[in-house]
Order: sequence, then C-alpha cells, then structure tokens
Amino acid sequence: MNLPEPRLIDPSSVPPLRWGIIGPGSIADAFASTLLSNTPQRISAVASRTPGRAEAFALRHAIPVAVSSYEELVTRDDVDAVYVANQPTDHAACALLALDAGKPVLVEKPFTKNVERAAEVLSRGRQLGLLVMEAMWTRYLPQSDVARQLLESGAIGEPRLVLADFCQDNRAMARMWRKGHGSPLWDMGIYPIALCQWVLGEPSSIEARGVVLDDGMDAETTAYLTYASGARATFTVSGVVDAPHHATVAGEDGVIEFAQPFVFPSGVGLAGKGFDVPMTWWMDNSPIRRHAGLVYQATAFADYVGRGLVESPLQSHDDSLACLRVAAEITRCLGADPY
Ligand SMILES: NC(=O)c1ccc[n+]([C@@H]2O[C@H](COP(=O)([O-])OP(=O)(O)OC[C@H]3O[C@@H](n4cnc5c(N)ncnc54)[C@H](OP(=O)(O)O)[C@@H]3O)[C@@H](O)[C@H]2O)c1
Repeated sequence: MNLPEPRLIDPSSVPPLRWGIIGPGSIADAFASTLLSNTPQRISAVASRTPGRAEAFALRHAIPVAVSSYEELVTRDDVDAVYVANQPTDHAACALLALDAGKPVLVEKPFTKNVERAAEVLSRGRQLGLLVMEAMWTRYLPQSDVARQLLESGAIGEPRLVLADFCQDNRAMARMWRKGHGSPLWDMGIYPIALCQWVLGEPSSIEARGVVLDDGMDAETTAYLTYASGARATFTVSGVVDAPHHATVAGEDGVIEFAQPFVFPSGVGLAGKGFDVPMTWWMDNSPIRRHAGLVYQATAFADYVGRGLVESPLQSHDDSLACLRVAAEITRCLGADPY
C-alpha cells in the first residue's frame, strides 16, 4: 500500500508578489532565504525599528529598499503583501497598519497573545476584503497534506486521540523568555495546539499543569483537552529539556504518525489497529529541509491572494482564534502570566 502524494501548489503558478518584511529577525532571515531560492516571489522592502538591522538584512538578501518605519514600508507602491515577523505583542498593530494600507498580510505565529486584538485584525481584513493569514506553516507542509488526505478518506476512522510533544532545551534562546514575545507555551506549544485544532476542533474542556517561573513565565506544560465528540488530546511542551518531537492521531480504525520532528518537513505514516502492525510511511525526500519549508505557506499565501480569498482554506480565522483561546486558558490553568 502506498500513501497518497501531497498535492503541492506549483510556485510558478501563483502571482509573483512583491513582499515587504516587518521585523527582520531570525525567522524573517529563513523566510527570505527560502522565498528567494525556491519561488519566483520577490522582496522589495524591509523595515526595522532597530537602527542598522534593516540595512544589514537588505544587504544579505539583495533587497533594494531598507526603511526604519513600518508605516513607510506598508504604504510603498512596490509592496503588494506584508510579512509581519516581529514579536507577538506587536503583530496586531503591524497587521492593522498593513491592512489599512490596502495590503494582505501574513502574520507570524502566535498570531497575537491577545484574543480580542486578533479578532479585531481578522475582522478588519474581512471588512476590507484582504487576506489575513497566520503563518502556521506546519499546515502547509507536504506531510500535512498527506495526513489531510488520509483523514478525509476515513483511513483511520473518526479521530479519537491526539498525542503530541514539543520539548526542546531553549534556555539559551533569548526570545523564548522575553515577556511580550515568547514563553514556551505560546511560542512552541502553539504547534501542538494548532494540530489538535486542525484534527479535533475546539475543545470543550482544558486542564493543564506545569512549571511556572518566578516571573510568571511558563517553562513546561502538560495539557489535557477533551471534545464534545468524546475525543481527547494531550501534549507536553518544555523549553527546558529535549524530547522527541512526535505527533500521533489515533482513530477508531487506525493511526497516523508524523515523523519527527513533526514541525519540520518530515513525513507521515499510517497503520491499522493492533500490536506490531507495520506502519506505511510517506517520507519527504525533497531538498526543502527545516525552515526552508516556510516556502509552502508563502506559495499558498500568494495563491490565495490571486484567488481573492480573505482567509486560508487550510487554517480559518476561527481556527487561529480558537488556538489563542486554548493557549490563554492553559496559561490561566497554569497560573502563568500571558504577557
Ligand atoms: N515559523 C517558525 O518556525 C518560527 C520560528 C521562530 C520564530 N517564529 C516566530 O517569528 C516571530 C519572530 O521571531 P524571531 O525569532 O525572528 O524574533 P527575533 O529575531 O528575536 O526578532 C524579530 C524582530 O522582533 C523585534 N524585536 C526583537 N527583540 C525585541 C524586543 N526586545 N522588543 C521589541 N521588539 C523586538 C525586532 O523588530 P525590529 O527589527 O523592527 O526592531 C526584530 O527584528 C515570533 O512570532 C516567533 O514566534 C516562527
């Protein structure tokens, strides 16, 4: 038995947008590299509020324009779409700037750390008829489309259980522990939250325990979610220890297993029920590895802009909001400080 092949969008079949980048930090570097190497998309301008950073980024990626004002970037005639890649507490304001300038916007994850602000952005996008998309890039990876086809075809029956872990010793990663930006739950945990949301929808109950630091920052979390359907999900996030990055979706008739790490281009397997039942794998053997996989969401974004969509068919606005509600409720259960 072979698993289905992923249905990928040909990068040359979508409109070649001229991107403007806000917040040229580490993920914007990865985004720019893969965009310019693996698609006909172009980057016409970059903006940073930190002196010298936009200029250095522009030099690295041969971008013609570097500016120090986000306002100036979004209003430029040579910018068709805006990628917001600064810290989450600044995402909503930047996304609104872009939308009010008439530009569709791709917003890094977590979309915001505030559900009301996120709702305001999404509603503005809809009012203006402009695409707003959370950069939940895992939804657009090839293995996710293989899994999507398996779920749609009923290969495992009704999904009943999602198990996932994202544990990585990120103690040396400054952003992870900076209020307004990270926290392992909001930065890393948003991936298993998004996986649960995709497969099972919004939970009806949420419990969580974990380790909260003296300053209110969550460091390690184990969450237990239940659903009106009777399904359950549990995941563990740690910014302190390493553990395998696995994700499993178990259904009444079988199991889907993502190859590790499930948040990078990897693979997906399918097995029936029972002990020692062999798993059939689809493995991603493309040269697009690790964060080069950001390219799939960029191509999808350009496709949706070309089709006049205001939200992604693969992650709706309601999905993005639900993920934030889950993260906020887990934060409350932990007694941690969301900001
Ligand atoms: N998709 C993925 O795999 C992935 C991976 C890593 C991060 N991310 C997400 O991408 C976003 C940016 O992460 P990053 O690692 O690229 O961040 P970063 O390199 O630390 O910084 C990105 C930008 O955020 C602003 N910034 C940095 N430190 C700040 C501070 N102390 N106060 C206010 N603003 C600050 C700066 O904007 P200016 O240049 O304008 O000053 C900077 O250019 C986050 O939402 C993160 O969760 C996604």
